[in-house]
Amino acid sequence: MSKNTQVEENGGVKPACEALKIFKRSRLVFKPSRSVLWFFLVGVCLVWSLFYFDYISLAKSYSLLDDKSETFVGLKLDNNSNNSNNNKNNSLLNKSETFVGLQLDNNNNNKNNNNNNSNSNNSSDNSNNSSSNNNNISSKRVGFLEESGNDCDVFDGDWVWDESYPLYQSKDCRFLDIGFRCSEFGRSNLSYTHWRWQPRHCDLPRFDAKVMLEKLRDKRLVFVGDSIGRNQWESLLCLLSSSIKNESSIYEVNGSPITKHTGFLVFKFEDYNCTVEYYKSAFLVPQGRSPIGSPEKVKTSLKVDTMEWTSSIWRDADVLVLNTGHWWNEGKTVRRGCYFQEGEEAKLDMSVDDAYKRAIETVVKWIQTEVDSNKTRAFFRTFAPLHFRGGDWKTGGKCHLEILPEVGTSSVSSETWKQLNILRDVFSQYSNRSETIRMKLLNITAMSALRKDGHPSLYYAGSHSPAPPHLQDCSHWCLPGVPDTWNELLYALLLKQDSSSTT
Ligand SMILES: *[C@@H]1O[C@H](CO)[C@@H](O)[C@H](O)[C@H]1NC(C)=O
Ligand SMILES: *[C@@H]1O[C@H](CO)[C@@H](O)[C@H](O)[C@H]1NC(C)=O
Ligand SMILES: *[C@@H]1O[C@H](CO)[C@@H](O)[C@H](O)[C@H]1NC(C)=O
Ligand SMILES: *[C@@H]1O[C@H](CO)[C@@H](O)[C@H](O)[C@H]1NC(C)=O
Ligand SMILES: *[C@@H]1O[C@H](CO)[C@@H](O)[C@H](O)[C@H]1NC(C)=O
Ligand SMILES: *[C@@H]1O[C@H](CO)[C@@H](O)[C@H](O)[C@H]1NC(C)=O
Ligand SMILES: *[C@@H]1O[C@H](CO)[C@@H](O)[C@H](O)[C@H]1NC(C)=O
Ligand SMILES: *[C@@H]1O[C@H](CO)[C@@H](O)[C@H](O)[C@H]1NC(C)=O
Ligand SMILES: *[C@@H]1O[C@H](CO)[C@@H](O)[C@H](O)[C@H]1NC(C)=O
Ligand SMILES: *[C@@H]1O[C@H](CO)[C@@H](O)[C@H](O)[C@H]1NC(C)=O
Ligand SMILES: *[C@@H]1O[C@H](CO)[C@@H](O)[C@H](O)[C@H]1NC(C)=O
Ligand SMILES: *[C@@H]1O[C@H](CO)[C@@H](O)[C@H](O)[C@H]1NC(C)=O
Repeated sequence: MSKNTQVEENGGVKPACEALKIFKRSRLVFKPSRSVLWFFLVGVCLVWSLFYFDYISLAKSYSLLDDKSETFVGLKLDNNSNNSNNNKNNSLLNKSETFVGLQLDNNNNNKNNNNNNSNSNNSSDNSNNSSSNNNNISSKRVGFLEESGNDCDVFDGDWVWDESYPLYQSKDCRFLDIGFRCSEFGRSNLSYTHWRWQPRHCDLPRFDAKVMLEKLRDKRLVFVGDSIGRNQWESLLCLLSSSIKNESSIYEVNGSPITKHTGFLVFKFEDYNCTVEYYKSAFLVPQGRSPIGSPEKVKTSLKVDTMEWTSSIWRDADVLVLNTGHWWNEGKTVRRGCYFQEGEEAKLDMSVDDAYKRAIETVVKWIQTEVDSNKTRAFFRTFAPLHFRGGDWKTGGKCHLEILPEVGTSSVSSETWKQLNILRDVFSQYSNRSETIRMKLLNITAMSALRKDGHPSLYYAGSHSPAPPHLQDCSHWCLPGVPDTWNELLYALLLKQDSSSTT
């Protein structure tokens, strides 16, 4: 890879450095008009605090009116929530099915902290006749891990307010890039850390690091992908390490620091003899020198019919989480002289979408033929939406001051769904042949599209935060935050596979 192509443009970790350079330059430009800048900042603070206090007072008035143990639920605008609230006689609730998108709900916390019964045959959820003094009566949702949860689409649901989140604090986690530590570097509204994902038709098991580590004993869990994949990997390191007291029992096997952004990093959890690894691969297919005899404009090429070279290292992982997405656009490929290649030939006319499709076909074929599905559980995490408002990452797009998830439908660009549709096309080629794809989707696009509040915005630049307003990161995610949920879903799917393979 040329130096040029290594720069990750979608904001965040690496780009933070780039952004800082620009920032430093732009500071010089700003100097003469310091008073203007000051005025602007005061304005921003004012507007922001209006939002903030408004929100806090709203939240407060609700939690005061309500019992402590009750959960504050948000964004449930669906009409199906009939069952969960109507059974209760909380007089606040009968009017509020669609009240500002916020609801109070008694059920969720019991259900979730209480997966104790979830494997039992005759849990009250399955029967018509649950006793009326049971706290859970009003919930008709089944546990995802129960047999009755088999048909539940865990990716379809709502974000609900839950004070028992986040599951960890970034200051307690050694494994986080500065770019994801938003709250430590100036982001003061922390509401983005308190949303839990609630599937519409079932309850997820609450994430238990010890259970997950036990599942991973003597195993390898490998993430391969772009910097958003790294975002998810770091989230999992924090989630898992929060249960381990002896810090020194978790270490990078080659002694590399978390700040290393090339190649790969392998963290070992010594007590469990397992590793949680990350391999950088923006495209999942290899990028290399252009074929001999190509036109001069072809500087590099992506071999869309070949699996990433490092795949031989992670093919035997026990759990494999792949992703690619943000680099499949013209700006990061053809406009930089990176064209697509099949066989020995550079395909100058191949569109980015076609190239993406070819690459996904390559990945799926590799999973089907090269990976031992008896050993390896493979997942593909779908596209994580961007939330730049009024531009993109280089034209001053913004997500700063977003403090609430979106209600109902998201306003992400239509680009967001394009890759999902291509993915579905590729998958349907297999299902049309009645072939089972040995790779599960972590279909997080829709759920994450609602979380415009989850990005670092100005708070990715470490001690140089806040970054200037025209250099926002609305692509990566603050941690703790949205990628934790992706990992909770991964956890649920892993447990689910175990429970169904033993029955
Ligand atoms: C709820 O149902 C009503 C009528 O059935 C419909 O008009 C409304 O759009 C629905 N709301 C949502 C959020 O689906
Ligand atoms: C709510 O439940 C009632 C009775 O169970 C049913 O008739 C009604 O259609 C439900 N409403 C919605 C929006 O699901
Ligand atoms: C719920 O409502 C019923 C009848 O409307 C009433 O008898 C009961 O006391 C109420 N329960 C609570 C906890 O308010
Ligand atoms: C809520 O329900 C109670 C009793 O069912 C009723 O008296 C009250 O007016 C309702 N409140 C609203 C706002 O609909
Ligand atoms: C179920 O919960 C009880 C008390 O909450 C606890 O003592 C017991 O160990 C739990 N059982 C399992 C299997 O988690
Ligand atoms: C379910 O019930 C059957 C018969 O009562 C029993 O043999 C079985 O162990 C039960 N399974 C669980 C998970 O409780
Ligand atoms: C429920 O559990 C009891 C034992 O606790 C067992 O005898 C009974 O068969 C179970 N019912 C069902 C429907 O599995
Ligand atoms: C619940 O009861 C109704 C009638 O009382 C019955 O038709 C239905 O099958 C029952 N459902 C379950 C899950 O037992
Ligand atoms: C519910 O339980 C009661 C007794 O506890 C019984 O009389 C009734 O038939 C049961 N109903 C159903 C639908 O199982
Ligand atoms: C992913 O989830 C969304 C929303 O639940 C759904 O519309 C879409 O069909 C799913 N895509 C795939 C490929 O399963
Ligand atoms: C650790 O796990 C590896 C497999 O990843 C296994 O080969 C090795 O024997 C394990 N070591 C111990 C001490 O259990
Ligand atoms: C997986 O295991 C089953 C049974 O243990 C075996 O029949 C099958 O050939 C194995 N598949 C692969 C790809 O090794």
